[in-house]
Amino acid sequence: MRITVEVNGLTRESNVEPRTLLSDYLRHELGLTGTHVGCEHGVCGACTVLVDGEAVRSCLTLAVQMSGRSVRTVEDLVPPGQDLNDIQVAFRKHHALQCGFCTPGILMSLAAEQNRPAPCRADALDSVRGHICRCTGYRGIKRVVEEIFAESDAENTP
Ligand code: FES
Ligand code: FES
Repeated sequence: MRITVEVNGLTRESNVEPRTLLSDYLRHELGLTGTHVGCEHGVCGACTVLVDGEAVRSCLTLAVQMSGRSVRTVEDLVPPGQDLNDIQVAFRKHHALQCGFCTPGILMSLAAEQNRPAPCRADALDSVRGHICRCTGYRGIKRVVEEIFAESDAENTP
């Protein structure tokens, strides 16, 4: 099937098998290997990307479903002229990763939370509960959420 998808701000046209997973499309067709694949059945969260701004498990999504939609991967997180975005800086500061396998998915979930009209720490913590990390013990990740969303909490508290 022919699909047209906006990926990281670029329009991509491809022929894909109807059964092609979004994760495989991104990694094998487009070479965007920052999206990792762990469990391949929606449990670990490593494959999370943004679809029209919402966090989505790309291993549970078909590439053909993305036609006419906008997909954003971890490769697009860093603002122009910078090395890391604010969440990545906080990850480094709080030692929130070791092997890094789970990290792209967590970054994308937190990016989705930042995009919400009224971001808050509780929702951000809920979003990272859907990710499995086998290295860090989660404390560092929790510290990242607390730092990044503290300001949002203050702004959104009436
Ligand atoms: S690879 Fe998609 S949730 Fe684990
Ligand atoms: S940093 Fe290794 S799995 Fe999370």
